[in-house]
Amino acid sequence: MSPYPESRNVILLFVLASLPLFFSAHVEDPEAVVADVMRSIENTTTEAQRRQLSEYHCLTGNPIDDCWRCDPNWMKNRKRLADCGLGFGRKAIGGRNGEFYLVNTSRDDDDYRNPRPGTLRYGLRQKKPLWIIFKRNMSFKLKRHLVIESDKTIDGRGVTVRISDGPCLVIRFANNIIIHGLHIYNCKKRLVDGDGIQIFRGSNIWVDHNYMSNCEDGLIDAVFGSTAITISNNYFTHHDHTILLGHNDNFTMDKKMQVTVAFNHFGKGLIQRMPRCRFGYFHVVNNDYTRWEMYAIGGSAGATINSQGNKFVAPNHIFHKQVTMRPNTPKSVWKHWNWLSSGDEFHNGAYFVESGSKSSSIYAKAWSLKPKLSSLVGRLTKEAGVLKCQKGSPCWVRL
Ligand SMILES: *[C@@H]1O[C@H](CO)[C@@H](O)[C@H](O)[C@H]1NC(C)=O
Ligand SMILES: *[C@@H]1O[C@H](CO)[C@@H](O)[C@H](O)[C@H]1NC(C)=O
Ligand SMILES: *[C@@H]1O[C@H](CO)[C@@H](O)[C@H](O)[C@H]1NC(C)=O
Ligand SMILES: *[C@@H]1O[C@H](CO)[C@@H](O)[C@H](O)[C@H]1NC(C)=O
Repeated sequence: MSPYPESRNVILLFVLASLPLFFSAHVEDPEAVVADVMRSIENTTTEAQRRQLSEYHCLTGNPIDDCWRCDPNWMKNRKRLADCGLGFGRKAIGGRNGEFYLVNTSRDDDDYRNPRPGTLRYGLRQKKPLWIIFKRNMSFKLKRHLVIESDKTIDGRGVTVRISDGPCLVIRFANNIIIHGLHIYNCKKRLVDGDGIQIFRGSNIWVDHNYMSNCEDGLIDAVFGSTAITISNNYFTHHDHTILLGHNDNFTMDKKMQVTVAFNHFGKGLIQRMPRCRFGYFHVVNNDYTRWEMYAIGGSAGATINSQGNKFVAPNHIFHKQVTMRPNTPKSVWKHWNWLSSGDEFHNGAYFVESGSKSSSIYAKAWSLKPKLSSLVGRLTKEAGVLKCQKGSPCWVRL
């Protein structure tokens, strides 16, 4: 037996990664996906304004939340969530077509190869679809990262689930996963990089309404030909390398990467990479950015960035007002990259340096009916992070 089983695995992963994709997520027409996102924002915000009458603030205008939160019986209809995705990761239905799996202990077995039924690890490694829920509040301090197999939903609604102070979540060569309602923080490097959520050749992945902070590597890293991802409604804070989308500048397999980053709150103490993109197509829409320390949105290797209706509040530091960053690249090269800002709002001196072609076939501008899309951001991100849904009562906000 090799004393370094992990390094052997890593070599194997590199070999596998060079094979053609064996999952079905194919490159979509970005214009169609972006137009669909913008239409549903338009739709739900109009609807919310029209019906904003009752004591309960059930419709918020957030198209993802409004799709399921108005059901007072959300606990009985948990799988409704799977129909509420938006953007490039909208096809993630997680464990919708499977059984529920109840995690009844936060203990993690020493023998990670043979976890016991009832543990989170056991549920995550099953090959069949599962909708994973938790019996009560639980904190997981792991000795070893949790690997999520295909067709899983981790649904933290109604309880408080923390994964912290050890290695955290890893998706590898897996497809169709929803991660909703977890507190993920202080993730440590141990065999794996120390990311909050590492996505390594994953597709159809939806990360919604989580709280994430302070990990040793990225909060979310998607690399090695991962695609069809939506990162929505999360609350990010106190971290350096926030979100990395794309392995490195030579890894052309990431050309197929398509990611939607929507309705997130990029809060205090974040330094950079919100996100940092390579090669693919990135729709960054209606996020709230509060005083990054270096830059907000970065990229290289010809990434296409479509920034719409975000609210950017620059830090006070005079050298860090620019939203954008193209590390180590001369202007003669990056001037051809398609980076566009439309409907964004800038405060405290923030500015976005655009580049490339502004043709609508790249960005799908045609939909843009709302003149001031960014005015919605406050409302749409108000409840970013873990929702305070209580068992047995509706999960909407009392005004
Ligand atoms: C917009 O709302 C209408 C009426 O409620 C609905 O039929 C339609 O599917 C919605 N469109 C989108 C893109 O959500
Ligand atoms: C936890 O669930 C597993 C199977 O789902 C069951 O075998 C075990 O007895 C349960 N443990 C407790 C403490 O309820
Ligand atoms: C679960 O955690 C929440 C938030 O931390 C807390 O308000 C609630 O009282 C806890 N529930 C139980 C049963 O301990
Ligand atoms: C990418 O390739 C170039 C030239 O082939 C090389 O100089 C550079 O170090 C590589 N970069 C990375 C991050 O591997």
